[in-house]
Amino acid sequence: MNTQQLEKEDSTRRTFAIISHPDAGKTTITEQLLLFGGVVRSAGTVKARKTGNFAKSDWMEIEQKRGISVTSSVMQFDYGGKRINILDTPGHEDFSEDTYRTLMAVDSAVMVIDSAKGIEPQTKKLFQICKMRGIPIFTFMNKLDRDGREPMDLVDELENVLGIEAYPMNWPIGMGKTLTGIFDRYNHHVELYNHEKNNQTSEIVDLDDSNDPIDNDKLAQDEQFEDAKDAIELLDMAGNQFDEGKIATGDMTPVFFGSALVNFGVKAFFDAYLKYAPAPSAHKTEEGDLIAPNDDTFSGFVFKIQANMNPNHRDRIAFVRVCSGEFEKGMDVNLYRTQKKLRLSNVTEFMANTRENVKTAVAGDIIGLYDTGNFQIGDTIYTGKQKVEFEKLPQFTPELFVRVSAKNVMKQKSFHKGIDQLVQEGAVQLYQSYTTNDYILGAVGQLQFEVFQFRMQNEYNSEVNMDPMGHKIARWIEPDQLDEKMSSSRNLLVKDRVGNPLFLFENEFALRWFKDKYPDVKLTAKL
Ligand code: G4P
Repeated sequence: MNTQQLEKEDSTRRTFAIISHPDAGKTTITEQLLLFGGVVRSAGTVKARKTGNFAKSDWMEIEQKRGISVTSSVMQFDYGGKRINILDTPGHEDFSEDTYRTLMAVDSAVMVIDSAKGIEPQTKKLFQICKMRGIPIFTFMNKLDRDGREPMDLVDELENVLGIEAYPMNWPIGMGKTLTGIFDRYNHHVELYNHEKNNQTSEIVDLDDSNDPIDNDKLAQDEQFEDAKDAIELLDMAGNQFDEGKIATGDMTPVFFGSALVNFGVKAFFDAYLKYAPAPSAHKTEEGDLIAPNDDTFSGFVFKIQANMNPNHRDRIAFVRVCSGEFEKGMDVNLYRTQKKLRLSNVTEFMANTRENVKTAVAGDIIGLYDTGNFQIGDTIYTGKQKVEFEKLPQFTPELFVRVSAKNVMKQKSFHKGIDQLVQEGAVQLYQSYTTNDYILGAVGQLQFEVFQFRMQNEYNSEVNMDPMGHKIARWIEPDQLDEKMSSSRNLLVKDRVGNPLFLFENEFALRWFKDKYPDVKLTAKL
């Protein structure tokens, strides 16, 4: 492809993740989007995957046992002239660093909120990562077919709890049993809800300049419609102004009300989303240069490594987000970290639920490289003479800790090999206590430990003991400020993989107590 062709292809890509708290409806909305894209023919396919009834399921055993999505899988489909890449993030509450890192590979995010519950803890955590990246965030207030909280309440909470400006793109007319439709502020019409069909839109009613329905007396006399109209008037007068610039930087979120389950308001949401969501943009290197998507050399970075996606093949897959150029099967690339050349012949692309062999991919696309141990999370690969290293992926401070040891003391070698590789891969974080040299693992979610234990046994033939230490607050300390006497019963002094000291505090109280006692000591949450 020449530069213009590449530019044209790049401009069609929309790569995003759906973030939400478990049960808000992420699976259900994903399913609807896949239906629009024609990749599933009936509702229930994705759901079946989640509940383990899906025939094509090739997920890790652990995932099947627990009926949850361990992997951040990738779904690609075409819709409305765009090529969509949805990067799935584990929905279970004991999610992992994978979830966070997946958000490093997207260009925007869709935040699904249960309108009866509002902002829940996991939504907030994931939102903060998106906010840190400054990517656009689109909000879908779900489950409008059920009674939920007052819409204005939900919008206020969004602004206050998450600290982002909200712009409602539509407004519900009633909800639950009395749901009549949505006032589509963006398209300036009303979408009526059809209860009988229990599905979708029955009719679109256009509005005149004073927001009155054209040719629909029933709606004109609907009290709930009057309420919605008042709310819209209030928003027009006193609410935020629609601001594309703020949306692009993640300072304003367009808010859509609807119901994923009955597919109401989802299409209007997705069409507007596709209009405002960004195509892939330039990526920054460690040196501070920007690599444009239409650069004629290929580049990308590994944001996730997944082992044993298919239990029949004991393979690992390195997930690469393409940042520039065009990927072609069999091409040679340079791996920045080792400066080695690699031929990428065994590659997969992720067309929803099946792994098809990829031929070409451009910026925004995700490719899966079969890996025999060459890759680490954060690795950059590129073609061309100019060396490229993308900005390092952020480290996420672990919150949960376990002490780990080999069950069989005679098998230290496989234990150490396994730990070394899994830590390098970024599956968990490794620490050692200062005094006893015990191995301590840190993670952001319990699931990472379970995956670690499973993989140690299955891939390295090493059974491990894990002794939970619970939640801790990790804070690094400057080595020259460290005095071993600072360690007490309320904190544990450990060193990280590269030997930097940090304290694991029992709780907030222990952290405050330490700060009061040593006011001059600088503690940092991340290295
Ligand atoms: P998740 O991936 O975010 O965890 O949520 P998921 O889509 O699995 O949805 C969680 C539950 O909420 C499901 O019910 C689902 O049917 C329901 N749900 C999702 N969207 C809507 C909606 O718009 N309206 C209503 N009323 N319910 C919705 P479940 O009882 O756990 O599963 P199921 O047995 O009904 O499939």
